[in-house]
Amino acid sequence: MRQKIVAGNWKMNKNLVETKALISDLKAQANTSGARVIITPSFVNLALAVSETEGSGIEVAAQNMSQHDSGAYTGEVSAAMLKSAGVNVVILGHSERRAYYGETDALLVEKVNKALAEGMEVIFCFGEELEERKANKHFDVVASQISNALFHLEASAFKNVILAYEPVWAIGTGETASSDQAQEMHAFIRKTLADKYNADLASSVSVLYGGSCKPSNAEEIFSKEDVDGGLIGGASLKAVDFFGVINANK
Ligand code: 13P
Repeated sequence: MRQKIVAGNWKMNKNLVETKALISDLKAQANTSGARVIITPSFVNLALAVSETEGSGIEVAAQNMSQHDSGAYTGEVSAAMLKSAGVNVVILGHSERRAYYGETDALLVEKVNKALAEGMEVIFCFGEELEERKANKHFDVVASQISNALFHLEASAFKNVILAYEPVWAIGTGETASSDQAQEMHAFIRKTLADKYNADLASSVSVLYGGSCKPSNAEEIFSKEDVDGGLIGGASLKAVDFFGVINANK
């Protein structure tokens, strides 16, 4: 179901003490937007985050997940482990995972399948690099990232998929896509879904924008028809900034 969502991707930030402190600060803020609020601490702090956020309306998600069930995969974390810690949402396909850890579309198919089979919700990330946008290939890149990793799914599976368009050139750079660029791409994403599945499915999927989203630009970006919210990096690490973004999602 299409929802207003603001998710904070904490990436590799916040130790245990800092995680606790940030959650305490987050709980002191008021959500005046009605948007669904999600945070993603590191694996090691997820169980703590789940207990610290209990009853607050803040959900806890993971930043990654193994495609395997269990076994000899040193350093990996399974869906079952996440679920047993109270985590039922996972980010997959982030550009940093693709770029630094070699995650391919084929691997993401396995991860998406595993998460959905385990009853988890997936925040699936994709987006073009600067060179691709300059070469006017951004629509092709996004269409292929989505189709390669998701278009084997039955339409019904999309009720547990949230899409996050994150142009790589806007991540952590301070340079955000303009609201018109975001809207143009989000409309294209819905058209791509409509062409493959149907218009109802396309309009029922939540599509988030990510990339240097902050309190000063969030309202403008979120005001666009096809933008349902954001996946927030840097600005999710301070409670006041994060809720500045959340409360911009009217
Ligand atoms: P920034 O908001 O820091 O640009 O990060 C965006 C992001 O990668 C969220 O997943």
